[in-house]
Amino acid sequence: MIEYKQIFENNKKWIEQKQNSEADFFEKLNKEQHPDYLYIGCSDSRVTAEDLMGAEPGEIFVHRNVANMVISIDLNVMSVINYAVRHLNVKHIIVCGHYNCGGVKAAMTSKDLGILNPWLRNIRDVYRLHKEELNAIEDEHLRYNRLVELNVREQCINVIKTAAVQEHYIKDKLPTVHGWVFDISNGKIIDLDIDFRKELEGIREIYNLMGTGK
Ligand code: CO
Repeated sequence: MIEYKQIFENNKKWIEQKQNSEADFFEKLNKEQHPDYLYIGCSDSRVTAEDLMGAEPGEIFVHRNVANMVISIDLNVMSVINYAVRHLNVKHIIVCGHYNCGGVKAAMTSKDLGILNPWLRNIRDVYRLHKEELNAIEDEHLRYNRLVELNVREQCINVIKTAAVQEHYIKDKLPTVHGWVFDISNGKIIDLDIDFRKELEGIREIYNLMGTGK
């Protein structure tokens, strides 16, 4: 485990490293950001954003919360999406879940989790939507991993439901939305290959906010 004091030592080394690779690194960074990606992931300490993608500062706009949820009345995530799409013009939005997600596991247990109840209720709703498929999986671990995947898909759909994404996509054919699962056991990113256009078409039947018909 990293000691508190060590953080500042590490920071010094990191500054040196960056400056050695690019003398004006911080000068450039200081100007402004032009990230192509919005990453929405879990707060879990084992699932980093930039690190697992090999990305540099300035490349990824990041939002993390318990179980990578995109909830329409969460002002935080909605502000992040709005800013990323309308002001940063990101090209890709990634929702990244991970196997062994404590939030998803908690949502599968019959227990009063206090303040987490309303948050995790949204995962229980995902379970209800896919109850038949999930109940048919006998192995508890596999069922739980499948819920992780289905939750990522539903959160991608929630991203697509936003006015910012619908409007921008119609105008610029950007951004596209991707669903990933990070496998902590081997470090791999699994792309769930969500068909963005098909999902967009599907949800616009009910969630169309642009008044331009189907
Ligand atoms: Co998690």
